[in-house]
Amino acid sequence: MSQRFTAKTVVITGACRGIGAGIAERFAREGANVVLVSNDLERVTATAARIAQAHGAPTLALAVDVTDEAQVVEMYKAAFERFGRIDVSVQNAGIITIDHFDSMPRGDFDKVLQVNTTAVWLCCREAAKYMVKQGSGRLINTSSGQGRQGFIYTPHYAASKMGVIGITQSLSLELARHGITVNAFCPGIIESEMWDYNDRVWGQILSTPEKTYGKGELMAEWVGNIPMKRAGKPEDVAGLVAFLASDDAAYLTGQAINIDGGLIMS
Ligand SMILES: NC(=O)c1ccc[n+]([C@@H]2O[C@H](COP(=O)([O-])OP(=O)(O)OC[C@H]3O[C@@H](n4cnc5c(N)ncnc54)[C@H](O)[C@@H]3O)[C@@H](O)[C@H]2O)c1
Repeated sequence: MSQRFTAKTVVITGACRGIGAGIAERFAREGANVVLVSNDLERVTATAARIAQAHGAPTLALAVDVTDEAQVVEMYKAAFERFGRIDVSVQNAGIITIDHFDSMPRGDFDKVLQVNTTAVWLCCREAAKYMVKQGSGRLINTSSGQGRQGFIYTPHYAASKMGVIGITQSLSLELARHGITVNAFCPGIIESEMWDYNDRVWGQILSTPEKTYGKGELMAEWVGNIPMKRAGKPEDVAGLVAFLASDDAAYLTGQAINIDGGLIMS
């Protein structure tokens, strides 16, 4: 594998498992210093240790709640103190809940917006302070197919991921003059613990007396609508993220790119 990111420092939030862990692994394989961030200390420490051992990569595991401003400031400070640069920041931490319009608690709506949208902006703000001083940087934000199109029972999640695209476009305009690109990616159905939850909870809500879901049936049905006829894997997403962080993407900013096997084409 090429070593496009030797001596570069990449911060990835939500890196203890799933898509974030796949992204961390890809950058480690390509020579980066990798800072893995999650609110799950035990798992992010274990994931960082596994990746460091597998790829001989310098890693740093940080337990951070990305919705906490002071913790986010400290997180970039710790990454900079350890590696001396912040070249790439991937805002990937995210959550979802699924509920009917009349039973969704206000707190769920607010929390999803805080983690998926406000924290993305907060991380971009703090990472960009280092990148402006360097005169270069890549901010890469995690949106979703729901950043393109709302799905049933998740108005907060759709709003949060559409918001990520707005943040991406707005910041890309302001930061271009500093040599910083800002892009987003929109995964479709990617195998992860989040999708295990989606399959179970969405499945329960969508079940009818004629058809029951909840044990993989929903995912199978929705995967049937994907032109490429398979769910994505974290590695599929990681390939796109690595491209966005690479020299090949130097003239690409303000964009949101679908990575979903052809599911959504707008
Ligand atoms: N899996 C999919 O099909 C899919 C599709 C579209 C978008 N996404 C998005 O991709 C991203 C990763 O999803 P995943 O499927 O790997 O999910 P996941 O549930 O497996 O992992 C989520 C990660 O976010 C972290 N996290 C959650 N809240 C946090 C907080 N407050 N502070 C710090 N870390 C926090 C968790 O610790 C974990 O590392 C999310 O933003 C998600 O919305 C996923």
